[in-house]
Amino acid sequence: MDTGRNHPSEIISSETKPRVLIFDTTLRDGEQSPGASLNLPEKLEIAHALENLGVDIIEAGFPITSPGDFDAVSAVASEITNATVAGLARCTERDVRRAGEAVRKAARGRIHIFLATSKIHREFKLKKAKEEIIRLTVENVKLAREYVSDVEFSPEDASRTEFDFLAEVVHAAIEAGATTINCPDTVGNATPAEYRTMFEYLIAHVPGAGKVVFSSHCHNDLGLAVANSLAAVAGGARQIECTINGIGERAGNAALEEVVMAMRTRPDQYPFTTRINTRRLVPCSRLVSSLTGLHVQRNKAIVGENAFAHEAGIHQDGILKNRSTYEIMAPADVGWVQNKLVLGKHSGRHAFRQRLEELGHALDEAALDRAFAAFKVLCDKKKEIYDEDLEALVDEQLKTERALFQLKSLQVMAGTYGVATATVTLVDSSGAEITDAATGDGPVDAMFATIQRLTKISATLDSFQVRSITGGREAQGEVSVELTHSNRKVRGRGFSTDILEASAKAYLAAINRIRTMNERTVGQASSLEA
Ligand code: KIV
Ligand code: ZN
Repeated sequence: MDTGRNHPSEIISSETKPRVLIFDTTLRDGEQSPGASLNLPEKLEIAHALENLGVDIIEAGFPITSPGDFDAVSAVASEITNATVAGLARCTERDVRRAGEAVRKAARGRIHIFLATSKIHREFKLKKAKEEIIRLTVENVKLAREYVSDVEFSPEDASRTEFDFLAEVVHAAIEAGATTINCPDTVGNATPAEYRTMFEYLIAHVPGAGKVVFSSHCHNDLGLAVANSLAAVAGGARQIECTINGIGERAGNAALEEVVMAMRTRPDQYPFTTRINTRRLVPCSRLVSSLTGLHVQRNKAIVGENAFAHEAGIHQDGILKNRSTYEIMAPADVGWVQNKLVLGKHSGRHAFRQRLEELGHALDEAALDRAFAAFKVLCDKKKEIYDEDLEALVDEQLKTERALFQLKSLQVMAGTYGVATATVTLVDSSGAEITDAATGDGPVDAMFATIQRLTKISATLDSFQVRSITGGREAQGEVSVELTHSNRKVRGRGFSTDILEASAKAYLAAINRIRTMNERTVGQASSLEA
């Protein structure tokens, strides 16, 4: 049900400092990152985390692309109450109706329609004249308004579109009932000055521009996505489309945490507010990284491991005297908690639950019981348990709950001479145990070959990385793998104090993802060109 309450433009004008709406597209553009596919429970978990973070709009998917995407958008629409839920549609009747159906149960639903407008897209991709683009825009925006009162229209590749034609399309979309106009820098080609000028031009020249919210959507091909988003705001945009950790097509989208913290840290330059609870940024970043399998680079602004680390002696000295000598933000304000020794063998369930909650994980009773049991097992292997260990434990726990195949046991024989052999036992989704053995070029290769035989899913191993998640001899190892299956990249992560076990878990996580992906693409909508 669409209540039509609280249209963004009303909220914006009711505050003293203008508000910039945060439109998160982690579940749509973000999920388009190669290897980042998410299943339904994972999407729901991220949607709830985004709602808690305080985003205004969650773009939950592209309903026409597959039954799985449709189900994900409608499940998010049913469960999320504090954010608008958007479904993406091309500018066609079928897409718009499907998106309308998907967001039907939302407390606040939005249909987001896009149609390319630049000369290069019109001539080579769409093969459509300008008049046709205008006609389709008007028809489909009107159709979308039959489903919801909140319709966003995006002239795709807006930043490379002739200004006069762009203004014409935007005007037509507004007249037809669009309430948000999003002008994407689809290929990440714009510079901040150009992108700002485009918004200033549209706001000054399009009749009715004052009735709608203008929005930015920037890709990071030249590393300018965040700078361009902020330039758009300076030019009059009041919605920023972005993703957690900046994930997305190719080089990704503008990173939510960066645009939000830039506005918060430099109000002299960006005198705007957002509804984001910045203390949720790091937990949200970790959740997205763990569920998508996309690592956050150490030196990534705000949420990277080194973002607040001071190595040089002169910096450390300054920090000890006064933190603001070298820190422009307080780590706690973006959700970093001290990397301290948290729990040990004698810690109780209550302390365990409390620490997990502080880290942003609210588990139900059953999941908490399982996680606590796993924690006790870990305490026997490792005296000192750090936050990173707890994060890994919850990550494992959630993955195991949803896994189609789980690792029961493994035995590996390997040495300098002779062929390595692995025997692996898995539990399949029916609860049955399956065991097999295979040889390989080393213990890891033998384990992976055995898992392929057991699951009957073959894939090429493209990358295999091991790192220790905390310091010390007893540290848990994290293994990340990247596989290719049917031309698609898939990632998986596993944790254990035993590197071989972590490797098997990582490989299995990727295999489970392939299985889900294969199920999701059955019945996929025919063609997505246009
Ligand atoms: O980059 C882009 O142009 C998009 C549109 C669908 C908004 O993602
Ligand atoms: Zn995009």
